Amino acid sequence: MDVKRTRDISEVIETLDAISWQGPASTNMRSSAVEALENGKVLYFPRLAFELSKMETRFLTPAIADARAKNVSFDPRTGKMKGAIASDADLAAVTEMMRRYYEYARKLVETLLPRYAPALEAGRTSFRPVEIKDRTISARKDDTRLHIDAFPATPVGDRRILRVFTNVNPESKGRHWRLGAPFEEMARDFVAKLPKQAPGSAWFLKTTGMTKGRRTAYDHMMLNLHDTMKADDGYQARVVQNEFSFPPGSTWLVFTDMTSHAAMGGQHLFEQTFYLPVHAMENDNKAPLRVLERLAARPLV
Ligand code: SIN
Ligand code: FE
Repeated sequence: MDVKRTRDISEVIETLDAISWQGPASTNMRSSAVEALENGKVLYFPRLAFELSKMETRFLTPAIADARAKNVSFDPRTGKMKGAIASDADLAAVTEMMRRYYEYARKLVETLLPRYAPALEAGRTSFRPVEIKDRTISARKDDTRLHIDAFPATPVGDRRILRVFTNVNPESKGRHWRLGAPFEEMARDFVAKLPKQAPGSAWFLKTTGMTKGRRTAYDHMMLNLHDTMKADDGYQARVVQNEFSFPPGSTWLVFTDMTSHAAMGGQHLFEQTFYLPVHAMENDNKAPLRVLERLAARPLV
């Protein structure tokens, strides 16, 4: 018999009824937002939609994405887009659509979480027009398994990963997620089993250009947590978890380096990544970096 342990959904998801990306956000809303996020909850806006023009809805097709990449990716720092296949005019229009999502997502974070604004760094914008269930990938890359986010080529060091997601599916298809155990509980299950970082390996990865910057001890642990939890079928099946389907026209924000998540199904999503130095948090003791430093009893960056 398959009896999954779940938590009360109110412990996992904090619902806020903002309807505008530009705010204003009430003092109440701002304080629940920062508290919920830093505790690992998903901030969920059921009525915050990313409106596409009639012309842009043509881009809601897997054909727009390079078959190997599956995502279209935009870098707001350079204005460059990757992974899309279309005419020059359409490529320019997709770029503008993605830039607009970046600007909206940034505005939302800045009005809702003003203490993060001065230190907030933009990462990539991604548009995901391919149905998750149709993807075939290795266990390590398989985001239908519960995981925390950690990037092999882009070490984060002392920065958090904060992501904004919006479901833009035109046919009422939800983005179906699983949400797993609190970070410290998850880390305690795995930390003793993680491989040690080989001496000199961070230097090697950096000098050969395999990583952008030095892979810190923290990055090493996070990557290994990511890989180990994904590979552990028993853990995936038995860990406390909740299912939730984010409907089209909704937006959600989460520190994906902390909150175990898995994307089980859905098509047509926008996602914006931000990096936030832990010192900008209201309570950096809650950061995965600090949790792991306590468990390891040493500094990790
Ligand atoms: C992920 O971050 O693991 C995937 C999220 C999604 O595409 O819904
Ligand atoms: Fe992820």
